[in-house]
Amino acid sequence: MLVIVKENYESMSAEAAKIIANRMRRKPNLVLGLATGSTPLGLYKELIRMHKNEGLDFSTVTTFNLDEYVGLPPSHDQSYDYFMQQNFFKEININPRYVHVPQGMTKDVNAFCEWYEKRIVEFGGIDLQILGIGGNGHIAFNEPGCSLGSRTRIKTLTEKTRNDNARFFSSMDEVPKYAITMGVGTIMDAKELLLVANKSNKAKAVKAAVEGPVTATCPASIIQMHRNTFVVLDKESSALLEIEYVDTWESMLFE
Ligand code: F6R
Repeated sequence: MLVIVKENYESMSAEAAKIIANRMRRKPNLVLGLATGSTPLGLYKELIRMHKNEGLDFSTVTTFNLDEYVGLPPSHDQSYDYFMQQNFFKEININPRYVHVPQGMTKDVNAFCEWYEKRIVEFGGIDLQILGIGGNGHIAFNEPGCSLGSRTRIKTLTEKTRNDNARFFSSMDEVPKYAITMGVGTIMDAKELLLVANKSNKAKAVKAAVEGPVTATCPASIIQMHRNTFVVLDKESSALLEIEYVDTWESMLFE
């Protein structure tokens, strides 16, 4: 695991984007795993800048998103599909045929989840998976206590998650109860992982994920078992780490 600590959110986002751009240039038909949430917004912004100013080409890149709410159409402004379109896809030259976000409106969730897993394999597997981390150590919608071998499946949202999300909906009834999410096993099959975190409210989860025991109590701690993982942090989220970490990956021997 290579842990990189940067001074602030901007430099953290730029560092993460640099790794992704490097992988895209090395393999133009890269299969990229994507996350939503506030953390990757900065790195998406930087990738958009690189696309517009430096010609970073997404036309042959394939993407797979981690998760989506069940019951929300892509047109719903709280769906992850909408989030990705607004914050990333509409600004780059990605081919919509190569974009995959779990279908929240599918009539047969189990069949869809099976198809999603197969589709990832058809594209040769995910080369680089971007991950955020929840304050409780979750990755995607894999909450504490989940199976560390899990595959793409439907999960019931915890009451806490539903309450946290309630402010984005006009009533509690509208807040989704379920989500489709890649499993921990699906995530671990990616050839490389890139976990990003910022702010002090993530410090405990980052400490547990990077230096704690590998346990389903902190699903993100499974990244310690992955052979090729980048963790890119800002100062605040790294505050509880005890080992000293590098400030850029370029100095490392491996690419
Ligand atoms: C989103 C996802 C979630 C987030 C996590 C952190 O696709 O998989 O696990 O990565 O909840 O969210 P933010 O970045 O908003 O703190």
